[in-house]
Amino acid sequence: MRLTRLYSTMSNDDHWNDKILLLGVTGGVAAYKAADLASRWTQRGAKVRVRMTPSACRFVQPLTFEAVTRQPVTTEIWQPLGTGERPEHIGSGDDADLFVIAPASADHLARLAQGFGDDAVCLTALAWEGPLVICPAMNDRMWRNPAVQANVQLLRDRGATVVDPGVGHLACGSTGPGRLADLDDIDACVTGILGQKELS
Ligand SMILES: Cc1cc2nc3c(=O)[nH]c(=O)nc-3n(C[C@H](O)[C@H](O)[C@H](O)COP(=O)(O)O)c2cc1C
Repeated sequence: MRLTRLYSTMSNDDHWNDKILLLGVTGGVAAYKAADLASRWTQRGAKVRVRMTPSACRFVQPLTFEAVTRQPVTTEIWQPLGTGERPEHIGSGDDADLFVIAPASADHLARLAQGFGDDAVCLTALAWEGPLVICPAMNDRMWRNPAVQANVQLLRDRGATVVDPGVGHLACGSTGPGRLADLDDIDACVTGILGQKELS
């Protein structure tokens, strides 16, 4: 069943007002699609704070995300701290409502599963206790790899919501499962979680 239908009764722009979303972008071809998600959520009234891995910055410029979110983008963990300020990866957990990682590369799934903390996305995830939505995107053979599947299962078992990739044309030229899930489905999933959060 498409997630859009599953969450359709809960879709309501009110869920978005004054929400703070963390958006982690990792190194895959689908990184450009994350700019669309950031733009949609900003237009609905959310503050979208983007964290990018060094690989993600090779695919899309941080400036694109700064422009659509009108927020600074974090691309590295070594930032100067103002007086009394806590490191950003810790402070993120204080006021954000949801952390979405889209696209999540195969490499990043492994880093998340193993608890790595050496870039702005996995370090934020390591210190994050709120709802986490992970949207993998990769080549179909990579997606079928048992190591990738085991990491996805581990992350689900720990409570993350994984939005499975879609099936279809892949940038590498093959056809199969691996493309970033339809943005409407990711959107619907996130809207549903924000709605549930408001009810609880
Ligand atoms: C042209 C190109 C496209 C790539 N596309 C993907 C992809 O769609 N998904 C993926 O998991 N890895 C992809 N990779 C590999 C990742 O970029 C690589 O594993 C990188 O280390 C991921 O870094 P990160 O997880 O820290 O962002 C691609 C690499 C290249 C050179």
